[in-house]
This record gives sequence, structure tokens and C-alpha cells, in this order.
Amino acid sequence: MIKWLAATELAKLTHGGADALLSLIEIPPNEELGDAAFPCFHLAKEKRMAPQQIAAQLAKEWNITGIKANAEGPYVNLTFNKAIYGKMLIDKISENQFRNLNFGNGKKVIIDMSSPNIAKPFGIGHLRSTVIGNALYHLYKKTGHVPVRVNHLGDWGTQFGKQIAAYKKWGNEDKLNASPVDHLFELYVQFHEEAENDPGLIDEARSWFHKLEKGDQEARGLWEQFVAVSKEEFNDMYRFLGVDFEEVLGESFYNDKMQAVIDELEEKGLLEESDGAMVVKLEEYDLPPCLIIKSDGSSIYATRDLATAIYRHEIMKGEKLLYVVGGEQTLHFKQIFAVLEKMGYEWAKDCFHVSFGLMRLEGKKMSTRRGRVITLKEVMKQAISSAIEISKEKNPDRTIHDQTAKAMGTGAVIFGDLKNDRKNDVNFSLKEALRFEGETGPYLQYTYARIKSLIRKAGEQTDSTAEIKETFLDFPETWRLLKTLSVYPDVLKKSVSEHKPSHIAKYALSICKHFNQFYQQQRVLSDDKKEQFTKLAVCRQTVLLLKESMDILGIEAPEEI
Ligand code: ARG
Repeated sequence: MIKWLAATELAKLTHGGADALLSLIEIPPNEELGDAAFPCFHLAKEKRMAPQQIAAQLAKEWNITGIKANAEGPYVNLTFNKAIYGKMLIDKISENQFRNLNFGNGKKVIIDMSSPNIAKPFGIGHLRSTVIGNALYHLYKKTGHVPVRVNHLGDWGTQFGKQIAAYKKWGNEDKLNASPVDHLFELYVQFHEEAENDPGLIDEARSWFHKLEKGDQEARGLWEQFVAVSKEEFNDMYRFLGVDFEEVLGESFYNDKMQAVIDELEEKGLLEESDGAMVVKLEEYDLPPCLIIKSDGSSIYATRDLATAIYRHEIMKGEKLLYVVGGEQTLHFKQIFAVLEKMGYEWAKDCFHVSFGLMRLEGKKMSTRRGRVITLKEVMKQAISSAIEISKEKNPDRTIHDQTAKAMGTGAVIFGDLKNDRKNDVNFSLKEALRFEGETGPYLQYTYARIKSLIRKAGEQTDSTAEIKETFLDFPETWRLLKTLSVYPDVLKKSVSEHKPSHIAKYALSICKHFNQFYQQQRVLSDDKKEQFTKLAVCRQTVLLLKESMDILGIEAPEEI
């Protein structure tokens, strides 16, 4: 917004188009230099003059009231009058179209997210995918796209042969009903341990998978049971996180859609034999061959992902396909996108692997192998009980509502993830994530509740004093807060184009930081009703944009904490 204001004013002087100028304007690194800076290098080329000279001339001729211009080397630094432009920013920010960005033009975006595996615990990687994917969903929705969240459940593959074999041998119905995924996973781990000494188990597993593929009743029945109980557990997690899906389509959904892909690959002459298996060579992409059919004739993960992508584009009409999956699958997605391109699908360029780093819990690495996994259920339970403890410490004479404790616990976990650039590894510490004073979810919630209570206390003001008076805006902390609020549309655009919710998370933090500084310096509730109205107007816009940001991140905003 500041850039836009600067460009509009500059356009009058330089006779250039405001749009072209907009891309040139910078925000100075240090606010003492000004609110916006215009580098004169471009004009210098055009006018064949030294940029310093142009800057000096521009500053000298500057005659726009409310903006001071200062030449600093090749730059013209602009400083806005806080009262006049503060009022202008409030007006702009309160316009409906400021928040309703529509650049998506109804474009359909398929977001592959969460996608845990049946009969295995919902791991931290799946949590990251769920939380990041859900924030992207909100971001796309807010910007006029039509996003679709798809849970691509891992419900097919040879491991189900192992799972069935193990269950038949050592399974226990009671345990399965009490904690299904734990029990199934224990059996899976046991299977791997015992198979080391008893290779016959592997054959058994293979034969069970074969039966499953052929639709054998017993195999099918057990598989369906595993799917049902696992889904129930996953749904607990989704309810907890407040996440929904438009579509839940497991890998098995594509079983009858793979042959067509294989045929197509063959017709297009892309399939080649290699050690008894069928592959698509990808030398020109500098990638290893993509395995399509294993030497035993079975299709694999990649084959299913090809069928899935084609389905999402052709049947679901996705114009952009996102895969929110950990960085360890980077090669897999590179191969998939390359094969699609070789098949002649020009939309392969609209497929993106939105990858993310590992998450460690209090410095410990997590693994789904050999039962060393730390399940999310434990993290969540702990988050809620810690939220209750911490809020007791802060407010000893008030008891926290269950709903609020849950909001804080989930808010802490979600924000603890989203504040990081998704590409980075994250070391998650629950204690850190719950601190009211840190860069945390509860800090946002606390600030939100504080502003809400302020607005409630002030009550409605509808008389003649309900008018914004510029003089009450003429303070550096008010100006900083308004400037922060005004970049909301830019932050959204950047977040969408980079697929990074972390920009929104940082934006929300910066709103809170600047609000708290404003609140420390400024008395909002005042006997002077015009002063109160003006400052409340700032609070109202703050709380609105903080709430928008929290909605995008998927963090609840309780009215009281
Ligand atoms: N189920 C897989 C896993 O847990 C993730 C699936 C990601 N989506 C996809 N279309 N391959 O590793």
C-alpha cells in the first residue's frame, strides 16, 4: 500500500505509469531513511543523466503535500505525514476489496495433503503435510481460487500382504478394537523382526497380497477392517486440528486406472525393459529411470501417482496440482512430473511438489520403523494439558475452558510448524510453542483476545464523536502498526506464489508485535470520545486482519483466554 501510494504520487512528477513505478519502489531497510525509496537508475538510463543528479532534481522539485522527499545518493527517500496518510491507510484497509483478493479467477487447485498410511501411525510428517496443506487451502480460497483438499490415503501395496499375514498369526481382536493402529503397527514391526529369521513369512505375505488383489473374501474383509479402523483414528486427528477434506481417495482407488496408463506409456513408446522390470528412462532430465512395473509384474507407488495425476487433471479438472509431501520424496515427484511431460501432458508444468523438512520433537528424530515413532496423539494430549497449566500460572484465579485449552494446544502445535519456512527442518519444543511471550500460537491468541476485550469495553459509539481525527494518529507506533496492516494483500500474494504459509505466520506475529507496542504507548479508552474512536478504529482493523491471518493458518481465535 505504501509502495502504491508512493508510486501514484511519483507518477504525477515523472510522468511515468504508476504500475511501472510500483515495481521499482523499495522499502528502506531503516525507517529513519523514510517510508519508501525510489531508485533513480532507470530514469538515469532514459535521460542519460547520473542517477544522483536525477534524485537531487526530483527531491528539489517535489511539491506534494504530506510527503517529504530527500535525495540520498541515487535514491529519493519519501517520508509520509503520519496523520494524513494514517487516515488514508485506515480508509483503504477498511474497504472490502482490500481483504477480498480475487486473482485466482476461480482456478481449481488440487491439494494432495496429509495422506497417511493405513495401519501405520499418523506421523509427524503427516502432521506437517496436514497443517501446511490446510493453510494453503485457506490461502487459495481467500484469493479467489477453488482449492480441493485430497487425502491420498496409503491404502494399497504389498505391505498389506505383510499386515494380513501378521494379523492372522499374532493378531488379537480385543487389542484391535481398543487401539487399532497401535496394534496393527506392532504386528507390522513384529513381522519384520521375525522375517529376518524366517524368510517363509515373506512368501506368505506375498501370497496374501496376491489374494487381496484377486478379491479373495477373507483378505478383502481384513483389509477393509484395517482401513476402517485406521480412518477412524485419523479422523480424531483431523477433528482435533479442525481440518476437513473435500475428497478422500486412497491409492486403491486408482487400481483400475493404472492399466490405461501402462498402455498409454507403451503406445507412446516410453516403456523400456530393464532387468525384467519396465521403466521410463529419464536421462534427458538427469534423473534415474522411473520404475513402472516391477519384475514380478506388480505396479508400484509411481504407477499409481501417474494415474492419480491424470485423474486429477482430466476428471477432477484441476488446473494446478500440489503435493504437500516431505522432502524425502523429491526424486519421486521429479520423476512423476518428468514422465507426465514425456507423455506429452503440457500441464505437467502446473504440478508442484510442495516439500518440507523434517520435524524433530525436543531434538529427537522420529521414525516409523521398529516402533520408535512418537505419535501425534501423545503430542496433542500433552499440548492441551500444558496449555491448562500455563494458563493457570498466568491467571491463577480463573479456570480455563476446555475449548480454550484445546484451541491453545492445537494453536501452539500448528503455529510451531507454520512459523518456519516449510523447507527447513524444525525442532519442535512444546514448551517453547506454548509460551505466551514467544513467537507462538498462544501469543497470537492472547493478543487477539486482548484487543477483543478492549473493543468490548469501549462499547458501540454512534454519536457525532464517531469520527476519525487525524491528530490522534500522528505517532510512530500507530504509523508502524498501520503500515504493517497495509501489506496484507502483498503477503497473501507472496505466500500463494511461493506456497509458503510462513509468510502469513510472520505477518501475524508482526501485527501482534506492533499492536503491543502501540498499546503500550497509547491509551485507547479515553474521555475524549474522538480520540477513543480513532484509536479503536486502529484496533478494529488490527483485530480483523489478525483474525484473517489466524483463519488462514488454521488457528482458532477464542474471544477470551
Ligand atoms: N502415503 C505417503 C506417505 O506417507 C504419502 C503420499 C503422498 N501423496 C502422493 N500422491 N504420493 O509417504
